Amino acid sequence: MTPTIRAMPAHGGTLIDRLLRGTLREAALERARSMPKVRLAPMAVSDLELIAVGAFSPLTGFMTSQVYRTVLDDMRLPNGLAWTIPVTLPVSREEAATVKEGQEVALVERTAEGGENIMGILELAEKYEYDKLEEAEKVYRTTDDAHPGVARLYQQGEVLLGGDIYLLNRPSQMEFPEFRHDPAQTRRMFAARGWRRIVAFQTRNPIHRAHEYIQKVALEIVDGLFLHPLVGETKEDDIPADVRMESYQAILRDYYPAERVLLGVYPAAMRYAGPREAIFHAIARQNYGCTHFIVGRDHAGVKGYYGSYDAHYIFDEFLPHELLITPLFFDYTFYCRKCGGVVSAKTCPHDAEDHVYLSGTQVRRMLEQGEPLPEEFTRPEVSRVLIEGMARKRAEEAKKA
Ligand code: ADX
Repeated sequence: MTPTIRAMPAHGGTLIDRLLRGTLREAALERARSMPKVRLAPMAVSDLELIAVGAFSPLTGFMTSQVYRTVLDDMRLPNGLAWTIPVTLPVSREEAATVKEGQEVALVERTAEGGENIMGILELAEKYEYDKLEEAEKVYRTTDDAHPGVARLYQQGEVLLGGDIYLLNRPSQMEFPEFRHDPAQTRRMFAARGWRRIVAFQTRNPIHRAHEYIQKVALEIVDGLFLHPLVGETKEDDIPADVRMESYQAILRDYYPAERVLLGVYPAAMRYAGPREAIFHAIARQNYGCTHFIVGRDHAGVKGYYGSYDAHYIFDEFLPHELLITPLFFDYTFYCRKCGGVVSAKTCPHDAEDHVYLSGTQVRRMLEQGEPLPEEFTRPEVSRVLIEGMARKRAEEAKKA
């Protein structure tokens, strides 16, 4: 008898589905045309879609004040489930004054052509004020507006709208359609491949040798790798998602066994909240059906705001049963010339001068000058795609200016 493969449950037990379909959707769209409207910022566009497809299960909408409070204070939802990042809908005071609690509100996105896409409906349960400094301190561990997540928080509206949502239309800009798999789809794809243990890899960068190494070490003990780059809003100087997507395909083609890897995009916005975001990333990947999640050095960190392993330590604030997905922790990895491979302080006895190290700034400068990165640092196929991609971006920018 073949054993039944039991899939990873969604966080909280049920994979949320808030997509309206068929006649229900049509009727809702018709109603939405005469509802008060709220215009969504890019992060809210991605959050709305991710709630609806179940990536943020068990959330069924934007957080009300009670939920927001326990997330900030206890890193848990009011029912005790682990949850570390506020998923809120901020609006200006003027906009908040146009909607009433108990009302249905149309959530609209401005399209690139200047039109409007009615993406969803919010059943407005509550509008409430919040303390941005407190959120900055608790979620980002800093109130410094040089932190990109904190800067976004300070710029957003003063009032939060909470309530359940329904999705009527996907975002108007559906980039990388062939790699956009909802959690229900990835679960089917993993099952079709016969994978029981699946490790997810979050990234907002090209795959350098260090990334490749930790993915492959993980791959030695699981059945499949879900390469899940974040392609929602990122900060200005991160490499644009389309260039990264080309680089992922280049490295997968030449260095990974095709039948062991699934590439899919994670359309979330980057918060840069370091440790709290590591938990959030892990929970979301559990919802996509993964059993393991890689957390390396300074996961989701930025500019030295977090200690290199703070994103590991935060997992100790949860009991093992609170997070079903298993974190796989990795130390800082790098190429050692004497070892002749990628190593970490755990595996290499040699001195720093034998280690290949490049800072983010050095990497950017070399790529801008069309200089391939050292092969010990980045595969030549990846360097090539990055150099060409960045040159194309600069040409596009120059044309616009
Ligand atoms: S992140 O913001 O998405 O975390 P990045 O794409 O750089 O940034 O990292 C993806 C994952 O690889 C994270 O888990 C990160 O901690 C890990 N990582 C990146 N570089 C290294 C490295 N040199 N050694 C160990 N882990 C790393």
